[in-house]
Amino acid sequence: MKIKGAVALVTGANRGLGKAYAEALLGAGAVRVYAGARDPSGIASGDPRLVPLRLDVTSPDDVAAAVATCPDVNLLINNAGVMLMTSMLRPDSEAALRAEFEVNVIGMQRMIRAFAPGLASHGGGGIINMLSVVSWFTGPFNSTYGASKHAALVVSDAARIELASQGTRVVGVYAGFIDTDMAAGVNMPKTSPRQVAEASLDGLENGLDHVQADDRAREIWQATRTDPAALAANIAKMWAAGGKPYSD
Ligand SMILES: NC(=O)c1ccc[n+]([C@@H]2O[C@H](COP(=O)([O-])OP(=O)(O)OC[C@H]3O[C@@H](n4cnc5c(N)ncnc54)[C@H](OP(=O)(O)O)[C@@H]3O)[C@@H](O)[C@H]2O)c1
Repeated sequence: MKIKGAVALVTGANRGLGKAYAEALLGAGAVRVYAGARDPSGIASGDPRLVPLRLDVTSPDDVAAAVATCPDVNLLINNAGVMLMTSMLRPDSEAALRAEFEVNVIGMQRMIRAFAPGLASHGGGGIINMLSVVSWFTGPFNSTYGASKHAALVVSDAARIELASQGTRVVGVYAGFIDTDMAAGVNMPKTSPRQVAEASLDGLENGLDHVQADDRAREIWQATRTDPAALAANIAKMWAAGGKPYSD
């Protein structure tokens, strides 16, 4: 699939990676980019191809309205996400797990189901799902989020299998920390959101099912395949020593 000439919808496009996706799409020649946001009032651009759209992915009504308002979409980018930096056994972890699943898993699944018929009517089109390196391993510091990103990987892979017959390409994107509000408190190297967005679009154009969008993703992908036990042991050691990748 080509980005030039595409009509895209990006969820969570008001800031962070979603904003970078919208800019990268416009830069690569998309003819229209619907910029989904819970509050689209701050989305401004001199570019008439950028169309603000009210869209909370946890709202079935919003999603149904988006389908009706945007019948021309042939590329869906499921970017919206929430990370509450919660370990699994903390007292508030059940609420965090529910909140993260609501957006990161059910919101993604709802968008895919809602837009799949429209994608089929445009010859198949494409879906990019924003996942994470924590879709592949268990990081204890944000493990409720990790559980949601593991589940989101299954949603993404299942959609690829189910939508293959209608010609829809489904791409899962994985990155380490990205330089956005979500990782503002993290004291580790971060990748620019524009790099992740551009790697994702290149991956779609080049027919990839999975895009490792930065060095951290490539490194973790190798580690989970070559020596997962060593990776798990290192993480457990860091947890036991009280080390944290973020500041409180
Ligand atoms: N930052 C990282 O280190 C990192 C690494 C790997 C993967 N990711 C993934 O990349 C994606 C983008 O994250 P980011 O770094 O750009 O995070 P961010 O800076 O926190 O932005 C999150 C975006 O998601 C939107 N959002 C949250 N809940 C929503 C909902 N119910 N409906 C619609 N939009 C909603 C937010 O909208 P509001 O402004 O209304 O809150 C915001 O636009 C997420 O899926 C995240 O899990 C991030």
